[in-house]
Amino acid sequence: MRPTMGVFVTGTDTGVGKTLVSAALVRKLAQSGRRVGVMKPVETGVDAGSSDHSDAARLMAAARVKDSLDLVSPYRFLAPLAPLSAAEAQGGNIELSEIVRRYEQLAARYPYVVVEGAGGLLVPMGNKWDMGDLISRLDLPVVLVGRVGLGGINHALLTLEALERRRIHILALLLNETVPSTTAVEQEQRASTVALLKERASVPLLGPLPYQPPLDGRWNETVEQLAGSRPISELAELVWKAGEERS
Ligand SMILES: Nc1ncnc2c1ncn2[C@@H]1O[C@H](COP(=O)(O)OP(=O)(O)O)[C@@H](O)[C@H]1O
Ligand SMILES: [Mg+2]
Repeated sequence: MRPTMGVFVTGTDTGVGKTLVSAALVRKLAQSGRRVGVMKPVETGVDAGSSDHSDAARLMAAARVKDSLDLVSPYRFLAPLAPLSAAEAQGGNIELSEIVRRYEQLAARYPYVVVEGAGGLLVPMGNKWDMGDLISRLDLPVVLVGRVGLGGINHALLTLEALERRRIHILALLLNETVPSTTAVEQEQRASTVALLKERASVPLLGPLPYQPPLDGRWNETVEQLAGSRPISELAELVWKAGEERS
């Protein structure tokens, strides 16, 4: 496979901020003059078409690209289930080779491609393969998005261990504050998550990306604003550096 520059955005869980981080990163790359394509290979809980709120639509809006939805997001399922179950519910299946084929088309169009996974690393995609197998096959480095709240330490370390076992190159662990830390206890939990992960995680730790007021109706503005934030700028630097080493 031709050495494309870019990153695969995975998470410790669903709802940890993969789409928000991907969109902000894509904005940052685009703002600095990089031509960047996006991909959301599998999305569940969506209509076959594009709604403005789907992950694929949000990534395309952030990148300002007009590729066909079929190319950016080939597997879209109505059922809000894990990918394999959602595919089976529609009597279909997900083909790894089809995702790779489309990824290669995007890679031929754009020097950088940002790919957002679904759920986490061990999410089943076919009878014998999972999200981690897709990452290995695309041969992209990974950024892991994790929660900064209580429980975030274990989830992050578990996923990092699984990534390392599969010899997937990890650019960084980016912590995200998905719910506000308002009380003193919550602030202490956040601080201790950051401190312990700094000590135990063997990869660069970015963030935490601060909690933003409810994003409904303010998604694009928030993405634009976060593109200028320190964690996203640092992530963009790591993506450039990894890209330069590859090319
Ligand atoms: N830093 C943040 N501040 C406020 N809301 C956030 C933040 N990160 C994520 N969210 C909210 O949490 C939800 C899940 O985020 P999303 O990026 O879609 O996660 P994922 O792609 O991992 O499922 C969204 O509704 C989003 O608005
Ligand atoms: Mg998402």
